[in-house]
Amino acid sequence: MADSAAGPVDLVVLGGGSGGYAAALRAAELGRSVALIEKDRLGGTCLHRGCIPTKALLHSAEIVDSINDSEAFGIRATLDGIDMARVHAYKDSVVAGLFKGLSGLIRSRGIEVIEGVGRLVSPTAVSVGDRVVTGRHVVLATGSRPRSLPGLEIDHERVLTSDDALTLDRVPASVVVLGAGAIGCEFASVWRSYGAEVTIVEALAHLVPLEDESSSRLLERAFRKRGITLELGARFAGVKTTDHGVTVSLENGTTIDAELLLVAVGRGPVSAGLGFEEVGVAMDRGHVLVDRELRTNIPTISALGDLRPGPQLAHVGFAEGIYLAERLAGGNPVPVDHDNIPRVTYSHPEVASVGLTVAAARERHGEIRTFTYNLAGNGKAQILRTAGAVTLVALPDGPVVGVHMVGDRVGELIAEAELITNWEAEPAEVAQLIHPHPTLSEALGEAHLALAGKPLHVHG
Ligand code: NAI
Repeated sequence: MADSAAGPVDLVVLGGGSGGYAAALRAAELGRSVALIEKDRLGGTCLHRGCIPTKALLHSAEIVDSINDSEAFGIRATLDGIDMARVHAYKDSVVAGLFKGLSGLIRSRGIEVIEGVGRLVSPTAVSVGDRVVTGRHVVLATGSRPRSLPGLEIDHERVLTSDDALTLDRVPASVVVLGAGAIGCEFASVWRSYGAEVTIVEALAHLVPLEDESSSRLLERAFRKRGITLELGARFAGVKTTDHGVTVSLENGTTIDAELLLVAVGRGPVSAGLGFEEVGVAMDRGHVLVDRELRTNIPTISALGDLRPGPQLAHVGFAEGIYLAERLAGGNPVPVDHDNIPRVTYSHPEVASVGLTVAAARERHGEIRTFTYNLAGNGKAQILRTAGAVTLVALPDGPVVGVHMVGDRVGELIAEAELITNWEAEPAEVAQLIHPHPTLSEALGEAHLALAGKPLHVHG
């Protein structure tokens, strides 16, 4: 092995996903020399197997819904069919365009991209093939991959991960979705729109169980209305593949026959065999342990994104990448606060939230105030014919600490909710802001008006 001819760079980034490339871009912007190591394609899970392609599928599903529901809007339209090859071509073209843009951006900032599998070989070096890349600091950003359950074998034919589901060449007649987190609910939503019979199996009592219970219940009502079967509080026992598909059995004795099983029980860190343990990086069940400032136990190594314990979201990866680059460049940036991160599940309807759930706020603060504004009172929601609500959680005579929303397109509203919770705005302060009419955003405004004691379009 030969040392990098050019000597050590300022930053070696292992992994070119959302977190890794954000760190690389910001570091380069701050005048640092950066080597970015990627074994597959720049952009990682988010761009190639996650956020972007799934949202393209969800958008095509929305078009199917619009056609199927068109009568309600006075339009006669019929669905001729779903051409999955064309759906994939559309989805892939979105990914390809963004990939081209990202690759160009990274090169234009003078970042050296090294293709290959990187392996940590010392606190300041990563090997890639027969080359050793040395840096003053190493950022571990290798991300995550779909995980399964013990004894549940993924055959990629009948028992799928989300990676397989993204490239499925047909609309299945029926699917069992195991796990009702964001991945499970988003694929269930897409397949139901495309016409599949869908059953969701979730061990906990609710869909999107990390969300406020009111949001979970609204999503459950909407999904049931769409004809999705819900098996809640039901643990998976086993699956047998048959000539026609799968037979899924639950611990409660229920069995479900379907063409496919999607396993969406979470994502695990990518860290095995990459030299982390050998170099002495402290880990827990495959995750690299970090402090609030993303430092590992080794002073020259930091880690971010899905690799560390905590939220597995692309936008958190971006924020951590920017933060880390600034800290390593000698700045004093504010660490990323995992409490106040906006979250969106892009199903039909969408679920969006930021801050504390009602239950978490009660536990942390004792007395709280809440208000729920039903989208039935919102003009734009009625025009779109979407149902849902905005729930606010605030401290008595204090700021808003949680915002929870359900309804089509509410994901687009969560950035305002994030400003509210992160700036610790009080309901009366938000109530002063004018929300344009008629938009869904008025529902946020109305909820704050009500919590400030001056409800406008609120009955009772
Ligand atoms: P998840 O951890 O959010 O959900 C997995 C679900 O599977 C849990 O509700 C869990 O209770 C259930 N489960 C586990 N074992 C089970 C069993 N034996 N029987 C029945 N149910 C069982 O993981 P998911 O949805 O796979 O997503 C992985 C990560 O990716 C998450 O952190 C998620 O937030 C993120 N992601 C975010 C998206 C977004 O922001 N829109 C989209 C997709 C993924």
